[in-house]
Amino acid sequence: MEYVTLNNGVQMPILGYGVYQIPDQDECEKCVLDAISVGYRSIDTAQAYRNEEAVGRAIKKSGVPREEFFITTKVWISNAGYEKAKASIEESLRKLQLDYLDLLLIHQPFNDYYGTYRAMEEYYKAGKIRAIGVSNFYPDRYIDLVQFSEVVPAVNQVETHVFNQQAKAHEIMKKYNTQIESWGPFAEGRNDLFTNATLQEIGNQYNKSTAQVALRFLIQRGVVVIPKTVNKDRMEQNLNVFDFQLTAQDMEKITALDTEQSAFFSHYDPQTVEFLTDYGKKGLE
Ligand SMILES: NC(=O)c1ccc[n+]([C@@H]2O[C@H](COP(=O)([O-])OP(=O)(O)OC[C@H]3O[C@@H](n4cnc5c(N)ncnc54)[C@H](OP(=O)(O)O)[C@@H]3O)[C@@H](O)[C@H]2O)c1
Repeated sequence: MEYVTLNNGVQMPILGYGVYQIPDQDECEKCVLDAISVGYRSIDTAQAYRNEEAVGRAIKKSGVPREEFFITTKVWISNAGYEKAKASIEESLRKLQLDYLDLLLIHQPFNDYYGTYRAMEEYYKAGKIRAIGVSNFYPDRYIDLVQFSEVVPAVNQVETHVFNQQAKAHEIMKKYNTQIESWGPFAEGRNDLFTNATLQEIGNQYNKSTAQVALRFLIQRGVVVIPKTVNKDRMEQNLNVFDFQLTAQDMEKITALDTEQSAFFSHYDPQTVEFLTDYGKKGLE
C-alpha cells in the first residue's frame, strides 16, 4: 500500500474501500470482512449510509489490530451544529465500536456546518479524531471554511474520476494544504466508464482492466481513492494497481477525457441543493 501524508503528519492509505449503497447490515458486514481479508485497511463509511454498525462488527470480527485501520465516517446534514454534531460523533463511535476515528468529514456543506466543524476541532484536539476534514466543499465554501477555522481541513472528499477530474479544485486544495479524496472513482459506471475505449486501449498494454486504469490515473495524480464493490474478485482487482505505471502519454490521453462536469449533480444547482437539504431536514431515523 502507498500512503499520503496529511497536513498534520497523519499517514492515510491512498486506496481504501467505500461502503455507500450497501445498506443491508449483513451484506455490508460480509463485504467489509471480505475487503479486510484481501488487504484493505482504510474503510469509508458515513452516518447517512446507515451501516456504521456493520462496519464496526466487521472490524471487530476481523481480528486485525485497530492501529492497522484507517476508519473514516461523516457527519450528516441533520446532525449539523455544535451540540448535535458532538452527540452524533459519540453515536458514530458507539456504532463503530471504536475509541477514536482516523478521519471525520462534514458530509455536505449545508446547515450549520461551522458549528459542526467547531465540535470536530474539539474532538480532534482531545485526541479522539486523528484528522478532520470536509466533503463536497467546492472552492467557494472550502475557501470560506479554511479562512475562518483554526484547523485546516486535512481532506476534502469530492466527486473525482476520469470524466470529472477536478483539476481547478485540486489546485486550490493544494494551495491550502488539503488532501483531495475521490468519491465515485468509477463515476459509478456512468458514461460507460468500464467500456471506455481509451481506458481499454491503455489497459491492454499493461494487462489491466479499465477499472484499474481509472484508479491508477487518480493515484498518479495524488488523489486518494475509495472504490466500492460488493464483489470479492473486484475488491482484489481494485487493490491490484501498484504494480504498473502509466506513462506521461497515457496520462495525457486520460486527461483529455475530462468533461469538467459532474456525472451526477452539481452543488451549484438550486434543485440539487433543495433535494439534499430536504433530505437532510428529514433526519436519519
Ligand atoms: N462524500 C460523498 O458525498 C460520497 C458520495 C458517493 C460516494 N462516496 C464514497 O465513495 C465510495 C465510492 O463511490 P461509489 O460507491 O459512489 O461509486 P464507484 O466506486 O465509482 O463505483 C461503484 C460501482 O462500480 C462497480 N465496480 C466496482 N469495481 C468494479 C470493477 N473492478 N469492474 C467493474 N465494475 C466495478 C460496482 O459494482 P459492484 O458493487 O456490483 O461490483 C458499483 O456499481 C462510496 O462507497 C463512498 O464510500 C462518498
